[in-house]
Amino acid sequence: METAELIETWLDRGLRAVVVGAVAASTLLWHDGAQAQPKEEPVLNLYSARHYQTDEALYDNFTKQTGIKINRIELGDEQLLQRVRSEGANSPADVILLVDAARMWRAQIDGLFRPIQSKVLESRIPTNLRSNDGTWFGFSTRARVIVYNEAKVKPEDVATYELLADPRNKGLVCTRSGSHPYMLSLIGAMVERSGEAATEAWARGMVANMARPPRGGDTDQIRAVASGECGVALTNTYYWVRLLRSTDPKDKEVVAKVGFIWPNQATSGTHVNVSGGGVARYAPHPANAQKFLEYLVSPEAQRYFADGNNEWPVVKGAEVDNKALASLGSFKAENVPISSIGKGQVAAQRILDKAGYR
Ligand code: FE2
Repeated sequence: METAELIETWLDRGLRAVVVGAVAASTLLWHDGAQAQPKEEPVLNLYSARHYQTDEALYDNFTKQTGIKINRIELGDEQLLQRVRSEGANSPADVILLVDAARMWRAQIDGLFRPIQSKVLESRIPTNLRSNDGTWFGFSTRARVIVYNEAKVKPEDVATYELLADPRNKGLVCTRSGSHPYMLSLIGAMVERSGEAATEAWARGMVANMARPPRGGDTDQIRAVASGECGVALTNTYYWVRLLRSTDPKDKEVVAKVGFIWPNQATSGTHVNVSGGGVARYAPHPANAQKFLEYLVSPEAQRYFADGNNEWPVVKGAEVDNKALASLGSFKAENVPISSIGKGQVAAQRILDKAGYR
């Protein structure tokens, strides 16, 4: 028996493949690079943790433009990541969309994304709004702001995240669960800039100030502020703008009683987060997946994020038509790179557990 023999073969596309081994040249089936791949069927399996009705138009428009049909699975981000992990190499997921940088960091660390190179994504998305290794990309941003009951609370007493934990606000704070990614990212960023000891003191102050045990989503907190059950709460901007745009008289009543604050304008700036995603590691349709991500930074798609779900586009100069969103004006944003927010979440969860902030 001879040692391994060297077979050189030229494929019809001019690709040169050097194969070591006792393999008959006639049985070679060799694909090199995307160009030699068989054409993908026009299908995209989208795993999404976005939970916004207005996204329907965003997806329909992609199908209209490309003929690629989207099969969508929507789950909470924790369950979604769990599902992709347990499906492993058999996962049908092509694209994974998530609603928080901390969750995208988790998916990155767990190897759930496949790194891609895209001139379109790299040129349109600022470097501070995507991962540094080509695994995930932010497509829209949102800020975490303070809302307060104008009859119960003076704005200067709730102008910063830190003040919410001050004894002067005892019995006034409503909050969603501290373990929710929106809170973990906020607190993770606080750990980055103030350290663990200060953040733990803050978490204990928050627990001491709670008007009720943590429950509900951001909109529930805004409503509780309006009803006077509490004096102050945190919310993502798009939930507030959704109420601003609502024609429901009940929502108008809520808006009339609630004040809005960009937190920490004189200090560290307001916490900003991203919704985004990447191509799944075992994507069966990787070309379609990349096409979809590139679609998300097109002018029309960027406009859907703003006009549909009241988020800010990541592409500079993207045109939007949302008066309520524009009415919020501009603000000083926190200067923590979005790709590093996730790192603080483990410490954040540990601090919350110690402080009893559920
Ligand atoms: Fe949300």
